[in-house]
Amino acid sequence: MIRHAAGALFLLALSILTVANGRHDFIKLPSEARRFFSNAGAGDDSVGTRWAVLFAGSSGYWNYRHQADVCHAYQILKRGGLKDENIIVFMYDDIAYNAENPRPGVIINSPHGDDVYKGVPKDYVGNAVTAQNLYAVILGDKTAVKGGSGKVVDSGPNDHIFIYYTDHGGPGILGTPVGPYIYANDLNDALKKKHASGTYKSLVFYLEACESGSIFEGLLPEGLNIYATTASNAVESSWGTYCPGEYPSPPPEYDTCLGDLYSIAWMEDSDIHNLRTETLRQQYELVKKRTANDNGYYGSHVMQYGDLKLNVETLFLYMGTNPANDNFTFVDDNSLWPSSNAVNQRDADLLHFWHKFRKAAEGSDRKTEAQKQLAEAMEHRAHVDNSMKLIGKLLFGVENSAQVMNAVRPTGQPLVEDWNCVKSMVRTFETHCGSLSQYGMRHMRSIANICNAGVKSEQMAEASAQACASFPSNPWSSLHRGFSA
Ligand SMILES: *[C@@H]1O[C@H](CO)[C@@H](O)[C@H](O)[C@H]1NC(C)=O
Repeated sequence: MIRHAAGALFLLALSILTVANGRHDFIKLPSEARRFFSNAGAGDDSVGTRWAVLFAGSSGYWNYRHQADVCHAYQILKRGGLKDENIIVFMYDDIAYNAENPRPGVIINSPHGDDVYKGVPKDYVGNAVTAQNLYAVILGDKTAVKGGSGKVVDSGPNDHIFIYYTDHGGPGILGTPVGPYIYANDLNDALKKKHASGTYKSLVFYLEACESGSIFEGLLPEGLNIYATTASNAVESSWGTYCPGEYPSPPPEYDTCLGDLYSIAWMEDSDIHNLRTETLRQQYELVKKRTANDNGYYGSHVMQYGDLKLNVETLFLYMGTNPANDNFTFVDDNSLWPSSNAVNQRDADLLHFWHKFRKAAEGSDRKTEAQKQLAEAMEHRAHVDNSMKLIGKLLFGVENSAQVMNAVRPTGQPLVEDWNCVKSMVRTFETHCGSLSQYGMRHMRSIANICNAGVKSEQMAEASAQACASFPSNPWSSLHRGFSA
């Protein structure tokens, strides 16, 4: 006891001595010392480099919101102090100068928002926005990158990495503008490889897509120093927001949703706070509340995966912080108001075509075009839904089909074990029935269940051929962008 006290006194004396020696930079006042130690490695600029990968998985004006989200995320990180050389952006880049865009060269992410497009680095655009390039970029593998700026996450052991993805998805799958899509096993393999290479200290993954929980559920192990949150659990849609006809709605000249519910929730929170004072957990709780929207029929369950203990860290470690927000400390109850409504990710394209149709002048070419687009999207949906149903009946019988095809595995289990089977079944389906496309991703659970039931590839080929004597010759069903797997 006495020895301990003496030891403590000795340390104190040493501290005072150190201060006396003028090393004020090391010894801090008690309040600062608390911050210094409680944030050990979490608040200090000297710990490594911050890296970010931002990925918008869609193209097309009806998907405006995903690229708007990614541009907005870039602005947060930029204002937070990250350098362009450390932010890698994937976006198809067909929005800012799209003929439908009422403000050429400008992208907004909220009704009264400023331009978020300005200054965004165009690392991977157009056909370079691929799953393979995403893995290569995460792994820092310059030689595996095809097209684009060649910028990769060239990180070291003390660095922190933030990855943000937003788009359509489905069970076990995330969209890309050009096929093949991102499969949950491949993405988790890339993350495991990155961990094995010892080139980060910790990694945070924010993911917005339908059924996004299925990307990590039973697949992202603990111990990789990765903390992930997703817009929805493994079995539900995620939501677009700031959509025409909702409140708050976009300026009247916009016929498309401007953002996504979960994405907007984390970004509008990060926009206004001193991120030194807000932890990942605090943001998760706030985003969860705003995205769930207890009052309405829409909304989804925000989830956390991986090393949950990392959520005591501050956002500052990954996003930096905007000095202009230094006086805006995070407090738990200052959640931003939820919007009155939102639109299912999968219906946002229909909403766009509908508003375009409604607003176009009677008898105009634009009216005819919008009507055609709406009809094609509906036709594709009906075709994919019906062929999948029929395939289920052919494989499992009329009685059992729905039960097998729609089965959901218990929480904590991955969608499927044999991902090669899933990919091969996707190719078989698409060969006979046309592209799944963004809407068709919703059927990935059925395809996984076909594998889980041990169906042979010849059986699947036969059932698909029988179910799809032909498929609609429209852009949604067309395979011009390649297979989804
Ligand atoms: C924060 O508040 C202090 C004290 O009122 C003030 O001096 C400082 O300029 C403020 N910082 C910012 C970024 O507004």
